[in-house]
This record gives sequence, C-alpha cells and structure tokens, in this order.
Amino acid sequence: MKHIIAVIATLLAGWAAVYMIGLDKEVNKLDNISKLVKSTAMEDNKIKVQTHTNGSAQSSSVQSNSQQNDEVANKIKALKEKAGNIAAFKTSTLYKKSCSSCHGNIGEGIIGPKLIGRDKAYLLSALKDFKSGKRKNYVMYGLLGNLDDAKIEELASEIATFKAKLDEANK
Ligand code: HEC
Repeated sequence: MKHIIAVIATLLAGWAAVYMIGLDKEVNKLDNISKLVKSTAMEDNKIKVQTHTNGSAQSSSVQSNSQQNDEVANKIKALKEKAGNIAAFKTSTLYKKSCSSCHGNIGEGIIGPKLIGRDKAYLLSALKDFKSGKRKNYVMYGLLGNLDDAKIEELASEIATFKAKLDEANK
C-alpha cells in the first residue's frame, strides 16, 4: 500500500514538474501545483489532504528571516535581469537533472521550498530524514531512494554554496 502511494505521489510530482515547465510560471497556477504536491506530504501513513484558503498556502517551515529572504530574492532577480549572468551560475548535472525542476536553478524554490541560503548541516539532515522516512514526504523520499549517501552529501555541499555563488555572480 505504502509503495503504491509512493508511486502515485512520484508520478504526480513528475506530472506537476512537466506541467510547470509548460507554463509561464504563472503565480496562481504554480500555487495550485504546489498545493497539489504538498498534499502528498504524509502523516501517519495517511495522505494528508491539506485545505488551503487563498493566500495561506505558504510553507511556513521554509521561512527564515524575512529580511534575508528579500535580499536573496532581489539578488536572484538582479541576476536574471543581467543576461549572461544567469549562465554563470553553474550547478552540477545531478542537481540540474534531479532537483532544479522543483527547487529552481539557483535553489530559489518553485514547487519545492527555497534551498538557497541553507547551510550544509541543515540540508544534509533534511535529506537524510527524508530518505529514512523520519521526515515524511513521498516526493523527496522517492527521489532520494536512488541516491547513495555520498551523492546526498555532495548535493548538500553544493547547495550550501549557492548563496555565495549568487553573491559572486552579482558582483
Ligand atoms: C518533484 C519535486 C521535487 C524534486 C524533483 C526535488 N524536491 Fe526537494 N522538496 C520538494 C518538496 C515538495 C519539499 C517539501 C517537503 C516537505 O517539507 O515535506 C522538498 C523539500 C526539500 C528539502 C527540505 C527543505 C527545507 O526547507 O526543509 C531539501 C533539502 C530538498 N528538498 C532537497 C532536494 C534535492 C537535493 C533534490 C534533488 C535530489 C530535490 N530536493 C528534488 C520537492 C522536490
């Protein structure tokens, strides 16, 4: 049963990613997809269907200091505006292939939460907890099942450098 749900959740997430790419990143539509994906978050082995009222779909776990969020958001915007600079933001093939569709090319967050600005320890423990099932999310659980500990550590190290890279690219 658990596995069937995992497969469905992964398919759903894959579909959401494809659907998302076809869109012009329209806020409302993304919001709906993110609700869809978030509704796959598991609790006590039951699918937790979250009901959202308008505007309350923000993932509260992701928010840190809002001032820092604004600063990062502005830098990402600046980077995107400067043609060519965005190309200077290089990430590994693994990140691009497996993570960027949901977390963004710069880890800015799309369907999945923002990762840029998180330190390695936080990222690594989040990834380990998803993989072990301690933190229940079938999307992340399904993805990490294929990655060994060395790869997971590589990803955590890489993502932890995104903030410095962004600062560097904006110089
Ligand atoms: C299909 C979409 C999708 C893909 C692909 C994806 N993620 Fe996620 N990720 C999510 C969602 C949704 C969450 C939020 C889960 C939760 O909080 O329960 C998440 C959460 C996370 C978190 C925790 C963030 C936090 O604020 O606590 C980390 C770290 C993370 N993902 C890293 C990765 C890495 C590394 C990859 C590539 C191997 C990846 N993700 C691929 C959807 C995705």
